[in-house]
Amino acid sequence: MPVPHRMPPNASAPAGRVRRRAVLVGGALAAACGVATARQAPLLLRFSHVVAPDTPKGQMALRLQALLHERSGGRIRVEIYPDSQLWGDDDEMEALRLGAVEMLAPSLSKFGMAGVPEFEVFDLPFLFRDLAQVRRVTQGRVGRELLERLGRQQMVGLGFLDNGFKQMSAHRPLRRPADFAGLRVRVQASQVLGAQMRALGARPVVLPFGETQRALATGVVDAAENPLSNYLTQQLAPLQPHVTLTQHGYLGYAVVTHPRWWKHLGRADRALVRQALDEALQHGNRLAAGLDQAALATLRTQPGVQVHMLGTTDRDALRQAVQPVVEQFRRSVGPGLLDAVHGVIGDAA
Ligand code: SIN
Repeated sequence: MPVPHRMPPNASAPAGRVRRRAVLVGGALAAACGVATARQAPLLLRFSHVVAPDTPKGQMALRLQALLHERSGGRIRVEIYPDSQLWGDDDEMEALRLGAVEMLAPSLSKFGMAGVPEFEVFDLPFLFRDLAQVRRVTQGRVGRELLERLGRQQMVGLGFLDNGFKQMSAHRPLRRPADFAGLRVRVQASQVLGAQMRALGARPVVLPFGETQRALATGVVDAAENPLSNYLTQQLAPLQPHVTLTQHGYLGYAVVTHPRWWKHLGRADRALVRQALDEALQHGNRLAAGLDQAALATLRTQPGVQVHMLGTTDRDALRQAVQPVVEQFRRSVGPGLLDAVHGVIGDAA
């Protein structure tokens, strides 16, 4: 398989797109021809993602790279493309489909628009209290069934990874629904997240993750929702000095590959990749809460950054304002699924 050109991080969008198209076509041809590759031949696994290396996803990918290098004696090479260097979250799934990349870990919010609306259950505001609740869902029967549903869109779901809970950032504290009025808030491409911002009186603006910093710097958007490790590593603090700990929603990932590549691996290599990935995911999941806490500690000491806690009354007011969103999406995520999630986490629907 051809090795894709590494994109300069600041490549201009049109030129970048032209080159990306060329890589897509090359990748598709290679994927079509590669089925006959010998089983013990060197293997290249390109892992593209949009966040910084020093995040749960970045660290998980690095662990996968190290494990596969060690266990295959260097035969399996994992090339990692972080920070949207190769693909952004607007085109990475297409790249996977066309064989221009072998593995991704998109945020769960991105799977709804990719044709698996059940994944938007994870975007429902104030659904989970903590990561322990999330894990009861992702690491159990409900999680397994959700991963299987990715097969409908030509993806093999290999496992879940946490980042953490999202907090709001802006030029001012965002404690109450009234504070959101009229703000343009960057959101991921998820119907639920758009509806959530509208319910708060804000205007959702869907943008790829890699464009968020520039959009905040140029005033295209006024606010954003991110787990703290993303907020910190994207250097949003100088642009958005007020961080309000709303903890209003969860952000995690599903690691996916393409069925054609997965099959082409052969049984032995599939088992090797599967085992290494399971361990890398455990590593990333162990790190997630710690990185979140470390990011909070760093932000608290960063000059200019103000971290605001949310009192119970404000939190309840936010929760109440977005409650209609849960009712609105109960049907599209699947009423049975939402009940199953509530059953697993032990909270009443
Ligand atoms: C990510 O963590 O992969 C990106 C999340 C986002 O788009 O906000």
